[in-house]
Amino acid sequence: MIVMARVCIMVWFQRIALGLLRCDYMLHEYTLKQVEMNTIASSFAGISTAITQLDRFILTEIGRLDSMEHIPPNGALAGLCNGMLDAWKMYNNKTAIILFIVEDVTYNICDQRFHEFEIRRLNPHVKVIRRTLTQMADRASLSKDKELIVDGNIVGVIYFRSGYETAAYHSQREWDARLLMERATKL
Ligand SMILES: *[C@@H]1O[C@H](CO)[C@@H](O)[C@H](O)[C@H]1NC(C)=O
Repeated sequence: MIVMARVCIMVWFQRIALGLLRCDYMLHEYTLKQVEMNTIASSFAGISTAITQLDRFILTEIGRLDSMEHIPPNGALAGLCNGMLDAWKMYNNKTAIILFIVEDVTYNICDQRFHEFEIRRLNPHVKVIRRTLTQMADRASLSKDKELIVDGNIVGVIYFRSGYETAAYHSQREWDARLLMERATKL
C-alpha cells in the first residue's frame, strides 16, 4: 500500500481548521488505484516515509540499483508536519504549542513520535505535547480570551488521534473536554 498525505485548510467550528487527509493506493495490474481517503485521525505518514527508505535500502542490498528510479519520493511526513506548522503560524502566538490528543493506550505511538520529531526538526521553537481526553478533562481550561490552556501551555493546534469514536469518551467529562476544545478560539 502506498500512502500519500495531503493537507487542506478548512472552515470549521473555529474560523480556520486544518485537515490532514491521507490517500491510500494499491497496485492493480501494474497501475496504482486509489482505494481510500482518510479524513479522520489520519496517521502513518511517518511509517510510510520510513518504508520508502526501507525499500531503497533493500534494493541497494540486493543489487537492484537499476530499479531505484521506480520508487517515487515520499514526502508524507514533512507534508503533514508542515501543515501543522502552517496552522500554528496562522494562530500567531509564538508561545503556543501543538497538542496531540491520544488514546489511553496508543499502539500507533511510533508513527506519532515520527510526527513529533519532524515538527521539532522543522521548527525547534514549537513544542509538542500529548494528552488523553481524560487528562484534558482534568487539566484544560479556557482563558477569558477563549485560548485553550493545558498545564500552563497555550494550545495553537490540536491533532486529534483519538476522539473519533464514542468508546474514547469514558464519561461525560471526556465529552465536556471535547466541547471545551471545540469552543477554544482566539482567531
Ligand atoms: C500569546 O499568549 C499569551 C498568553 O495568553 C499572551 O500573554 C500573549 O500576549 C500572546 N501573544 C500574542 C502575540 O498574541
